[in-house]
Amino acid sequence: MSQPPPPPPYAASSAQQQQGLSTSPSSHHPPHNPHHHPQGLSLPPAPPVNDMMDDMRLFLRTITAFRNYDVQARTSLIVREQNFKRLPARHQQLLAAANVSLNEIFSNYHNGVTCNQQFLTAMCDAGAELFEGYWPDVDPSTIPQDEPSPMDVDKVFSTLRQFMRDWSAEGAQERSVAYGPILHALTTSLFPNRATRNAVRVLVPGAGLCRLSVELALLGFTCQANEFSYHMLIAGHYAQNHLSEQHQHRLYPYVDNTCNMFHRADQFFPVDVPDVCVMDAVDELNANGMHFGDLSMVAGDFTEVYRKPEHRGAWNVVASSFFLDTAHNILEYLEVIMGALAPGGYLVNVGPLLYHFADSLSSALSPETPGSASVDGVQSIELSLDELLGAAKALGYIIHTPPQILETSYTGNNRSMKQMMYRVAFFVLQKPYDETR
Ligand SMILES: C[S@@+](CC[C@H](N)C(=O)[O-])C[C@H]1O[C@@H](n2cnc3c(N)ncnc32)[C@H](O)[C@@H]1O
Repeated sequence: MSQPPPPPPYAASSAQQQQGLSTSPSSHHPPHNPHHHPQGLSLPPAPPVNDMMDDMRLFLRTITAFRNYDVQARTSLIVREQNFKRLPARHQQLLAAANVSLNEIFSNYHNGVTCNQQFLTAMCDAGAELFEGYWPDVDPSTIPQDEPSPMDVDKVFSTLRQFMRDWSAEGAQERSVAYGPILHALTTSLFPNRATRNAVRVLVPGAGLCRLSVELALLGFTCQANEFSYHMLIAGHYAQNHLSEQHQHRLYPYVDNTCNMFHRADQFFPVDVPDVCVMDAVDELNANGMHFGDLSMVAGDFTEVYRKPEHRGAWNVVASSFFLDTAHNILEYLEVIMGALAPGGYLVNVGPLLYHFADSLSSALSPETPGSASVDGVQSIELSLDELLGAAKALGYIIHTPPQILETSYTGNNRSMKQMMYRVAFFVLQKPYDETR
């Protein structure tokens, strides 16, 4: 399994950026409409123009990384093809005798990359509307073009696999382990009455491509997704607003994975997205006399957005999947969640403790003076599960459902010889009704 990379650097001002994307439960309208802000949600005062320009540059750099996917992918392809072509004639004959057709392999490889690029280009074209009216009024062609960083490029490749996880039939197994227990807890023990669920406000931090938040709104909850990565915001926006029919796109998320294959066909395994078209699902609900909840999206750093006074006590549930370990300081996440929850509210979590910033420890070790370390690097606080739950109790949380351990991959390729499994923890914490407890 490719482990989720740490989030990309994000300009500090972006934390204040709050783009309200509202829902429309009416027939065949995108459930998110970026031009229509949900009731009661307003954009905060715009940050200084220079900060917004930095944000805009980062956004444009992300778009460039998506649009240049094929250049990157074909660079590896060409090297691989040349390596085969440099084989001595006798080895080429061996492969031909084994019915290995290099022409076929590399033609399929090229086609897979082309298909992926068509999808990503459509996504970028749609992404232009995402922050329309928010950016400073400047001609984008006058803005200096930044080269995407290696991490920007990596995230493009992992975004394709995130589509597999969130929006394809292939990802159903992962979703059933990660999202299944959250949906089950919310709809059975916690809020079994569908008719009153639109009064239940659920926040999904680190929402990725937003399948969990969409599922929650389909079940009638009022749901808000939060993300701070432009890769995810652009891709999540496309998934919700522009995938207007089932199996609209065919992707090849493993086309660049040439190791650990049992069969060559595994490299070219196609994935059709979406397995469920949100607009069709909303139509179906309406036809059955049920209502889509409410769905909104907020762009920005979780701690900066949700520690604001307007979020104090505003949420009945925080539903986190593979999110808590993205913290520099997980205790701060617990505090912010405690503040944002209404009395009696729940933190419903599934995830590992693969602390995203743990690797930054190496940058703090001083190469000049072996044995010494600097504390000026990126902070990463790594607690075990029992330490985390102990700290949660000390903070005032009640352990409503003790941890259950579940096995799952994350954007895994289940056809590969290499399988990476997490043993993730599902647990539910509750904020007491009486905060003095
Ligand atoms: C491992 S992914 C999980 C995505 C999704 N919840 C899932 O289960 O597939 C973690 C997500 O959290 C987002 N994220 C990390 N730190 C964040 C922060 N401080 N504020 C908002 N989003 C954050 C990342 O961009 C990434 O999309």
